[in-house]
Amino acid sequence: MTQYSSILGTGSCLPERVVSNDELVKFLEKRGVESSAEWIESRTGIQQRHFAGPLESTAFLAAQAASKALESAGVIPNEVTLIVVATSTSDQIFPSTACAVQSILQAKNAAAFDVQAVCSGFVYAMTIADSMIRSGQFKNALVIGSEVFSRLMDWDDRGTCVLFGDGAGAVFMSASSEPGVLACELQADGDQSCILNTPGRIENGAIVGDPFLRMDGQAVFKQAVAVLGSSALQVIQKAGITADQVDFLVPHQANVRILQAVAKRLKLSEEKTIVTVNQHGNTSAASVPLALDYAVRQNRIKKGHTVLLQGVGGGFTWGSVLVRM
Ligand SMILES: CC(C)(COP(=O)(O)OP(=O)(O)OC[C@H]1O[C@@H](n2cnc3c(N)ncnc32)[C@H](O)[C@@H]1OP(=O)(O)O)[C@@H](O)C(=O)NCCC(=O)NCCS
Repeated sequence: MTQYSSILGTGSCLPERVVSNDELVKFLEKRGVESSAEWIESRTGIQQRHFAGPLESTAFLAAQAASKALESAGVIPNEVTLIVVATSTSDQIFPSTACAVQSILQAKNAAAFDVQAVCSGFVYAMTIADSMIRSGQFKNALVIGSEVFSRLMDWDDRGTCVLFGDGAGAVFMSASSEPGVLACELQADGDQSCILNTPGRIENGAIVGDPFLRMDGQAVFKQAVAVLGSSALQVIQKAGITADQVDFLVPHQANVRILQAVAKRLKLSEEKTIVTVNQHGNTSAASVPLALDYAVRQNRIKKGHTVLLQGVGGGFTWGSVLVRM
């Protein structure tokens, strides 16, 4: 019998501290950096974001989101066989955030590793988990996106520091006789690493190179709209369905104008596009599972719906997962 994977539960976690555009603009003003709440909202759709406090680590947020996903699936940590965390802001160089989550949850029967594909991380991680479940090697997987991107911000760079936020989202996937995941599609173009990166590293105890996030906003914008549109069409074709059979689009939440452009290309109405970037900002690998959980808990995305999940970001990387809930 063909084996598939399907999503049995979702969860998410946001840091307690909410920072409005007004508050952020006042903070930037004190540093001599000029911006306005109106500029941020009109160019990006962002109204606020959450910033993690010292105790709200990437692993902590990931474990909270994972606990909620397990709770909604009715599963206990001992039953989990695999933990995959998508993150670019791991608390330590090693071990992985996934191992920290395994320890926090006491999910003692789970293998654990991280995936690094920046804002595409969650669709990369889901694709890997789907393959590992379909191969029969693993019965189920906790797939988590968790980020504390506020650590990477250069607060003197107004073109980037107003865009990002912190948070985590998770899904619990399990083997099933029916899909579940209908099709996946991943791509990368390492030649475009310079348009979005954090190039620094630690060497012999010192930071070497630039440790802040850098971005050519306009180049990323154009590239994101182009690749998300083509990736969506490819994954829909792979699954043997048509765009009008997609019930909801859950795209990476970077900029509301990017989401609208992709939805327009797919001829999907506003009601079919899940938007959380206004509340969360860009939370990188966490944005897709956060938006998915938000829509599930609002009772908009329900069992049986066909949902298109899409990631795009540094690498350059992008990809899509088409899933029946
Ligand atoms: C970053 C982004 C919002 C900038 O919007 P834009 O319309 O392209 O704006 P520009 O970069 O052309 O800048 C226009 C002006 O606004 C200024 N500006 C930039 N950030 C600003 C801010 N926070 N506040 C006020 N002004 C700002 C620029 O300096 C520029 O001023 P100038 O004309 O005097 O030089 C947009 O390019 C974007 O969203 N890109 C994609 C980002 C993204 O999705 N990244 C993550 C992908 S995973």
